[in-house]
Amino acid sequence: MFNHTRAPLWEALLHHASISQANFHVPGHKAGQVFDQEGSLRFSSLLPIDLTEVGDLDDLHAPTGVIREAQQLAADAFGADQTRFLVGGTTAGILATILAICKPEDKILVARHCHQSVFHGAFLAGATVVPIPYTIDPDSGLEMPTSPDAVEHLLEMHPDAKAVILTSPTYYGVVQQIEKLARIVHQRYIPLIVDEAHGAHFGFHPDLPDRAISHGADISIQSTHKLLPSLTMSSMLHIKKGLIDAESIDMYLSVVQSSSPSYPLMASLDLARRYMMMEGKGRLTEVIHRIQFFRRRIRELPQIKENTILGIMEPMKLSLTSTFFSGYEFAEALEAKKIYVELADDQKVLIVFSLGTEQSELDYLYHCLAQLHEENQVNRPQKNVSMLTPREGEILPYAECRTMERCFIPVSQAIGKRSAVHLLPYPPGIPLVLMGETIHQEEIDHLLGLIAKGRNVRGLKKRKDEYWVQVYN
Ligand SMILES: Cc1ncc(COP(=O)(O)O)c(C=O)c1O
Repeated sequence: MFNHTRAPLWEALLHHASISQANFHVPGHKAGQVFDQEGSLRFSSLLPIDLTEVGDLDDLHAPTGVIREAQQLAADAFGADQTRFLVGGTTAGILATILAICKPEDKILVARHCHQSVFHGAFLAGATVVPIPYTIDPDSGLEMPTSPDAVEHLLEMHPDAKAVILTSPTYYGVVQQIEKLARIVHQRYIPLIVDEAHGAHFGFHPDLPDRAISHGADISIQSTHKLLPSLTMSSMLHIKKGLIDAESIDMYLSVVQSSSPSYPLMASLDLARRYMMMEGKGRLTEVIHRIQFFRRRIRELPQIKENTILGIMEPMKLSLTSTFFSGYEFAEALEAKKIYVELADDQKVLIVFSLGTEQSELDYLYHCLAQLHEENQVNRPQKNVSMLTPREGEILPYAECRTMERCFIPVSQAIGKRSAVHLLPYPPGIPLVLMGETIHQEEIDHLLGLIAKGRNVRGLKKRKDEYWVQVYN
């Protein structure tokens, strides 16, 4: 039986900090003995546990002690056979997984709306990406879930595919039919990998969806830091035995992660697991109840609409559209009231709740929404509300891309050429044009339009008066 009241890594750090008499090892701040004076006001309580592989503190890359124990407790808590702590975010787990599964030129089916890290992983592995297309629900503006039929059809066309990778839930909270998808994927004896970056809280409460791993996923990678109480960049990779070579995953995790992993990050994972097992359900009951009440109150504001697809949304995300603002204007109006939302696009804003969401914050948000509703009774014609989704086109095999020369040219000369970088608005980090896809005028116009509105776009760089992009020769 696992004792979830314990946090072995955290306890070992505290113990080490209490017994150490002389510190002749890295990091250079020597447990906080030397540090910027102003900075130390904030950092001083953390620095004594910002340690390295000394004493009984184990080694993330070959764990035999407290890190191994902490990972075993996490596996039990998150319903996995094995769990790995990640200090490079879910990004590191995704890169290592794809590198472990794909040799150069292997095919991999990837939901086209996956995060850039999935395509980066495929690029590093030299894999050939077969995109699984997606559609946008016209009513809500949200991505529809991945169609099991589409996956089945693509697997028939590409029987040599080595894995299928999906995102569930999506950034906006749409949950995939993992059980059905896993059944289809497993008929081919290949693994289903789920990027569950936004679903670390799943399975901890009956009102939340189940975890992908409980429904047949072979690997799920969760950004613990996104919805649960752990430090930014701390994530977990969960494995179900059977189709996965855990040794290979470990090897590639050592390749993509630092050889000096942060102990505060790892300890925060240990503590997040303990918190969820000891207090998570109670806290979630409270917060979910609060959020349900808040959702009902918003329905009193007829010009503000929640974007949702019936029956497949998870409750911790709330996407709102108004009749009087574009999504960007909406976010700016809230920001003027010192309310910061996760992201905005042309149509909507995305609000992310967590176990830390307080009633007072929800009251303030409601008050501000009601005020904006009151002040903006006139419907304004919406400009540019159409969502530009990635077109369905062939992606150059990444093994080929790896051998090609790149050049940096003005965007006006890049139309019709293959992009050598992902072009994407960030957040959410879903490439509009993938590395290896053809650049079209429409996408460039859209991205330049976003830049003109002050949005963050990756892949385009300003040189003198023009934007430039890297393309393949
Ligand atoms: C769907 C999805 N997958 C993966 C990632 C990468 O996660 P991390 O920031 O933990 O590396 C993100 C980050 O936003 C994401 O939204």
